[in-house]
Amino acid sequence: MAIDDNQATIGWSSRWTFILAATGSAVGLGNIWKFPYITGEYGGGAFVLVYLLCIAIIGIPVMMSEILIGRNKQQNPVDAVLSLSKSEKVSPAWSIIGILGILTGLMIMMFYSIVAGWSLDYVYATANGQFLQITQTNIASYFEQLRANSPLQLAWHTAFTLLTAGVLAAGINRGLGNAIRILMPILFILLLLLVGYSYQIGHFAQAFNFLFAVDFSKLTGEAVLVAMGHAFFTLSLGMGAIMVYGSYMTKSASIANTVLTVAFLDTLIALIAGLAIFPLVFANNITPSAGPGLMFVSLPLAFGALPYGEIFGTVFFVLIAIAAWSSAVSLLEPGVALLNQRLGWSRPLSALLIALITWCGGLGCIYYAQLFDVLDHITANYMLPLGGLLISIFAGWKMRRKTVRNELKELSLGQFNLWYGISRVIAPIAIFVIFIAQLELHNKILRLFQ
Ligand code: TRP
Repeated sequence: MAIDDNQATIGWSSRWTFILAATGSAVGLGNIWKFPYITGEYGGGAFVLVYLLCIAIIGIPVMMSEILIGRNKQQNPVDAVLSLSKSEKVSPAWSIIGILGILTGLMIMMFYSIVAGWSLDYVYATANGQFLQITQTNIASYFEQLRANSPLQLAWHTAFTLLTAGVLAAGINRGLGNAIRILMPILFILLLLLVGYSYQIGHFAQAFNFLFAVDFSKLTGEAVLVAMGHAFFTLSLGMGAIMVYGSYMTKSASIANTVLTVAFLDTLIALIAGLAIFPLVFANNITPSAGPGLMFVSLPLAFGALPYGEIFGTVFFVLIAIAAWSSAVSLLEPGVALLNQRLGWSRPLSALLIALITWCGGLGCIYYAQLFDVLDHITANYMLPLGGLLISIFAGWKMRRKTVRNELKELSLGQFNLWYGISRVIAPIAIFVIFIAQLELHNKILRLFQ
């Protein structure tokens, strides 16, 4: 019965639908809100380079592992790993991957929904013409007031939670699949338009330098950790979202091609968002390290000054909200799929319960800004990489070579061995080393020898 439920709602119709869904999950606030603001905080170029390396060396192989685990058993992350542990004859304790993942997804959603709520507020404010010809001081104080206005944030947070729960209740394909097909390209085009405008009006060269001129002296252990964490965050990795999407993917599709497409689109959109935002940041004397408000301060300035800015701005924030929406759905889908498949609860009931949990957490984030920061920091920098580490080890060491090879049979032997080597050795070591570097354990060890 649970299976029927699923087939009625999901089960991607083609390879493209999967690419679309995975891209919808990957492209979100991480690209347009978070990437520029952490790049600003961690000093630009060197940080961006590490982030790109992490996408290539860790993100892409881990994404392949997630999909192949999910697709092999066509179940939610907990049950997929459980059944694999039986057929591959390893400890069922590995299903911690799924449990940890579901927990991480809930924790991310708690602050994600607050930021998505800000975007909704900005849709309303832009449409109302509140940002017309706005000055830098005024927009900064607008954002501060929004953050201080708890009831208003609560209202937007509730609206966003309901939107997300609605899609989850109905099944992902029906509503969101179609919406993304049309809206993602529009978001892309509007971003390009904005870059064009930033190029003319803003300090484009300075922004370009900031993003791409590598100065390693600015790179701290923490910056490397955050860059890696963001690579996981932006590709939706390490918590089973891509795994559960993979479980709805047909056996005939090529995992590697799909993953490369999604990673490429996601990275492209983040870089374009950076090139749209930073020229305005530098032209208006906003500090790049302004924190979570960066996008919410720089973009309204641009739209406020643009011809037809009211219209473009409104459309833009609507699209950001939609990008956030399609990502939020994937944050909660592993949990919803678990309740639905394991306990046989209907999708609406499962979605309602899960959404209620994250709604309460969001409430906490509104009233204790510290909780917001802690959740953002812990999930991206520790929980997702830890999940990714376990996934890599599971696919690389615990599953039989024959099983994984069979999922990746479209790869040549050389390509397969590359993936295999990265999954078994390079990715786990890289993640581990970055963890250690962050703890600055090496400093302590060095001190022992002094
Ligand atoms: N990738 C999304 C973004 O960039 C956020 C997201 C959706 C996510 N699903 C996820 C992050 C799963 C980590 C894990 O905004």
